[in-house]
Amino acid sequence: MHPRTTGAHTTSDVLVVGGGIIGLVTAWRASRHGLRVAVADPEPGGGAARVAAGMLAAVTELHYGEETLLGLNLESARRYPDFVAELREASGGMDVGYRACGTLAVALDADDRAHLRELHALQQRSGLRSEWLTGRECRRLEPMLAPGVRGGLRVDGDHQVDPRRLAAALVAACERAGVVFHRARAERLVVAGGRAAGAVLDDGAEPAAGQVVLAAGSLSGRLGGVPREVLPPVRPVKGQVLRLSVPRAYAPFLSRTVRAVVRGSQVYLVPRENGELVVGATSEELGWDTTVTAGGVYELLRDAHELVPGITELPLTETRAGLRPGSPDNAPLLGPTALPGLHLATGHYRNGVLLTPVTGDVMATVLTTGELPEQARAFAPGRFAPPAASPPTSPSLSPAGVS
Ligand code: GLY
Repeated sequence: MHPRTTGAHTTSDVLVVGGGIIGLVTAWRASRHGLRVAVADPEPGGGAARVAAGMLAAVTELHYGEETLLGLNLESARRYPDFVAELREASGGMDVGYRACGTLAVALDADDRAHLRELHALQQRSGLRSEWLTGRECRRLEPMLAPGVRGGLRVDGDHQVDPRRLAAALVAACERAGVVFHRARAERLVVAGGRAAGAVLDDGAEPAAGQVVLAAGSLSGRLGGVPREVLPPVRPVKGQVLRLSVPRAYAPFLSRTVRAVVRGSQVYLVPRENGELVVGATSEELGWDTTVTAGGVYELLRDAHELVPGITELPLTETRAGLRPGSPDNAPLLGPTALPGLHLATGHYRNGVLLTPVTGDVMATVLTTGELPEQARAFAPGRFAPPAASPPTSPSLSPAGVS
């Protein structure tokens, strides 16, 4: 079933605002459940996934106080193999570069070692699988590591996917499923009769829909016409990322993702099967700035070089900065808002690529049944509702006027 079209106006069951990987997976999964879906985005398949390294790092990126998020992360990681197989079929055979390669997190000095030991203890308390290795054992696994590596954690369950190929496959799967793409920016939510009813786009189109999903990544808090009480509290967190290429003569340079915390900053090296080596990432609270800076590139190369000295021999092919959609508790906002018909799928912060499969399934359930599945209840947008507005009634909702 396809949306009805009348000139610039279409009517669908669902309008997804934002065509990054989260918006696309929502659209694809909803259309597989028989809903007529449209996506509004000037550049579908763009967004933070253009920059992301694609680590599926539920275990190595575990943080204190994020045990609830861990459950969702692990659930999504578990779904990845089937998700990738289904997406390959739905996209006409596209490979998304899923690699079950594992991860090695290493320590370069005594402080790093203490930090990793704490992470290991937290992983063990959480029932996760990771193994402590000596420096020598780390280098046996990855001979390009610096001789000074003091020890590390081997995490065989943290894999990788290529986010650019993932985004391209999701666009193809959506197209093949009949999802309509409006290649324009949504400027304003349309609210009619007390419910979300569509959007006004910057090309003048006004697609109408029975339900609207706001999945615009770090821009999700800037859609005009969204009542203040339900506007998602997401902020941009800048990440600079480098891409290098490993000449055939140097392969295999690294066989798995290698990462460390160097002087308090995360650095990770993600080797793809096609020879690309992704090095990330800075984490900067600088608003909407996406400048690639000399300092950012320098720090990433300096830290990566301490970890793997041979990196300086490799051609540097790309430098780029993107914006993670950060939320107040670092976890996503999924499901219905207090405005009938308006749903959120945003705020995935560091875990957008990892959480793609589970987000698609959760959002498809929400859109078809109106219910948030059990595993996603802790991520309902209402957890950030201001007390005065809880529970708000539709007539009192006031537009925020942000665009
Ligand atoms: N998950 C990796 C990052 O956000 O840099």
